[in-house]
Amino acid sequence: MQDQSFEFSLNKHYGRAGLGDAILAALRETGKDPEKITVDDLAPVAEFHIGGLGATLELAQLAGTGKGMRILDLGSGLGGPARTLAQHFGCHVTGLDLTEEFCQVASMLSALTGMQDRVSFQHGNALEMPFEDASFDLVWTQQASMNIEDKATMYAEAHRVLAVGGRLVFQDVLAGSVAPPHFPVPWAREAGLSYLQPPDAVHDLLAKAGFREMIWRDVTAQYLGEYRKLAAKTADPGGQAPLGIHLILGPDAGVMRNNVVRNLEEQRIVLVQCVLKRT
Ligand SMILES: C[S@@+](CC[C@H](N)C(=O)[O-])C[C@H]1O[C@@H](n2cnc3c(N)ncnc32)[C@H](O)[C@@H]1O
Repeated sequence: MQDQSFEFSLNKHYGRAGLGDAILAALRETGKDPEKITVDDLAPVAEFHIGGLGATLELAQLAGTGKGMRILDLGSGLGGPARTLAQHFGCHVTGLDLTEEFCQVASMLSALTGMQDRVSFQHGNALEMPFEDASFDLVWTQQASMNIEDKATMYAEAHRVLAVGGRLVFQDVLAGSVAPPHFPVPWAREAGLSYLQPPDAVHDLLAKAGFREMIWRDVTAQYLGEYRKLAAKTADPGGQAPLGIHLILGPDAGVMRNNVVRNLEEQRIVLVQCVLKRT
C-alpha cells in the first residue's frame, strides 16, 4: 500500500497551489470568458495525457461508450476526460484522484462548463476505492497507473467496483524494452514516483484480476509525431500557448515533454490503449 509520504510526494508533484486561478487567467489571456467556456476549450490543460482530447475520443469509441453509462475515472486529474465522456457520449462520470488540488479544480471547471450534474470528483486512492461493489458499468483510466506501484490491487479494486460484464478501459504508459526512462517526465520528476511495468507483466496482472482482453493496441507510433510537435511548442517560451500543462508542471514542462519523446523514440516507454471485459 502506498503510504502517506507517497501521497504527500504525489500532491507536491501535481498539486500546484493557485492552479484554478492560473487556468482562469490563461483563459482570459486567450480571449475566452471563463463564464462562457466549453468542455473542449479546456482540453489543452485538462486532457493531461499523450494524444489529448483526440485520444480520449478515440478510446471512448473503442470502448463502446454509450449514453447513460456509469463510469468511474481513476486518476481523473483536472477532469478533462470525465467531462468529455459526459458531454460527447452522454455518460455519468465519477472521478477519483489522490491529488486534492486537482479534485477541487476539476469541480470548479465542471461548474463553469455546466457539467456539474453529470460529473463529480472525489479525493481518494485507486488502491482503496470508496465505492460499493458493482457500482459502475465501465472503469476508465488514462495515464494514472504510472504512479501506482501496486497494480494488482488497483486492478482487483477495478474488478470489485465493476458490474459483471462491465469494462476496464485504459490508456497507459508501460515500460519499454530499454531501461531506465529519462527523467523528469510529466508524471514524475524522478524515478521514485514512477512505476512502469512491461506489457507482459501487465497482461498477467489483468488476467489474474479477472479481466479478459478485448482490445490491446500499441499506439506509440500513432501518437509520436503529434506529441513531438506539441513538446517542441511547450519547450519554446515564444511558441507556448497560455493554456497548457506548464500551468500544472511549471517551467520544466517542455523538458518533461521532450523526455517523453526521447523515451518513446528509444523504446524506453510504450503507449497502449486497452479494453477488457470483467468476467
Ligand atoms: C498524468 S495525470 C492524468 C490525469 C487524467 N487521467 C488525464 O488524463 O487528464 C495522473 C493522475 O493520476 C493520479 N493518481 C496517481 N496515483 C493515484 C492513486 N493511487 N489514486 C488515485 N489517483 C492517482 C494523479 O493524482 C494524477 O491526477
